[in-house]
Amino acid sequence: MSENVLVLGNGQVKDILAGREKEVIDIIQRAYLLHHEGQSSLPHSVFLRFPGNDTDRIIGLPAYLGGEYGVAGMKWVSSFPGNIKKGVERASAAIFLNDMATGRVRAILEGSLISAQRTAASAALAGGCLHGDPAETKVGLVGCGVINGQILRFLRAVFPKLERVYLYDLDDGRMDAFIARNPYEGLTYEKCGGLPELFGKAKLAAFATTAGTPYVQCLDALTAEHTLLGISLRDLDPVIIQHSHNIVDDLDHVCREKTSIHLTYQKLGNADFVAGNIADAVKGTVPPRAAGKPTVYSPFGLGVLDVALSQFVYEKARAAGVGTVIEDFQP
Ligand SMILES: NC(=O)c1ccc[n+]([C@@H]2O[C@H](COP(=O)([O-])OP(=O)(O)OC[C@H]3O[C@@H](n4cnc5c(N)ncnc54)[C@H](O)[C@@H]3O)[C@@H](O)[C@H]2O)c1
Repeated sequence: MSENVLVLGNGQVKDILAGREKEVIDIIQRAYLLHHEGQSSLPHSVFLRFPGNDTDRIIGLPAYLGGEYGVAGMKWVSSFPGNIKKGVERASAAIFLNDMATGRVRAILEGSLISAQRTAASAALAGGCLHGDPAETKVGLVGCGVINGQILRFLRAVFPKLERVYLYDLDDGRMDAFIARNPYEGLTYEKCGGLPELFGKAKLAAFATTAGTPYVQCLDALTAEHTLLGISLRDLDPVIIQHSHNIVDDLDHVCREKTSIHLTYQKLGNADFVAGNIADAVKGTVPPRAAGKPTVYSPFGLGVLDVALSQFVYEKARAAGVGTVIEDFQP
């Protein structure tokens, strides 16, 4: 048993994860299955907010995942949207992994990429499982930040025929910057003037904005062929959720914190509008679609995904001798 602590920085995590999209999607799928088999412990995330400040927050996501992972840990992830204007990413994170024999911290990983990739892998897993057409060629991205950049990367692993990307962002400059940041051979971009236009052009769309309250009400622009990956959770008005086929990651987690699912629950007084969770959709025990309704995926983002992917990165780093070992960390 090693008593050392391994520290991995952003660049080291990035190198380990490069080109592993399909492997990461498999890890995320396995984590969902284990979680829904009861082989996890997952308290609610804790939200640290600040007096007189509605925008900044730091979230703690403690988690244990059993099965072949046998790992416990916590992601401590901050969101400071004002960072964007300073030329710094909105989100940053540290992930702690604990040894299950002693409880001691055995690794500290820079977590923003792990967090973004587990989120994108969840979106791509759901896209592949719920959207009817594996030969889909078009996707719409609402919100042109870090998360939709990763989502596009992972969707390409699931929908290899993607060739056209429709963008919408409140800030025109963010769309241009997104196009410059995400060049892919064989992929062309088109900026949209609004959501009805984007929904008219793409049946598969991912939301990754920083909206705090729902603003999407154009139900008449959606059809039974649409699949919406509602990653940012607070874009879709309850009227859309109410009339959709809803798949979540974990109802107990996502029905909180004024998400669209939470607001719809408060409006209707029950959660009957939720068809099931992603693990059941993967297993085929919940249908991916329902007649006459768009499908909406709403994942709260579970700490079990972070510890599962962090464990994978940690093991790869150990095997390759990557990272900084701190020998005198423990008491
Ligand atoms: N569910 C999960 O597991 C999970 C995990 C990680 C991040 N997220 C969420 O994903 C979101 C995006 O994260 P990011 O790091 O890409 O953020 P970011 O700040 O890099 O980008 C967000 C973009 O959304 C745009 N935007 C804001 N409001 C909009 C609106 N109403 N319409 C269109 N565009 C709008 C902004 O201009 C910005 O370009 C955040 O809300 C974050 O909390 C969810």
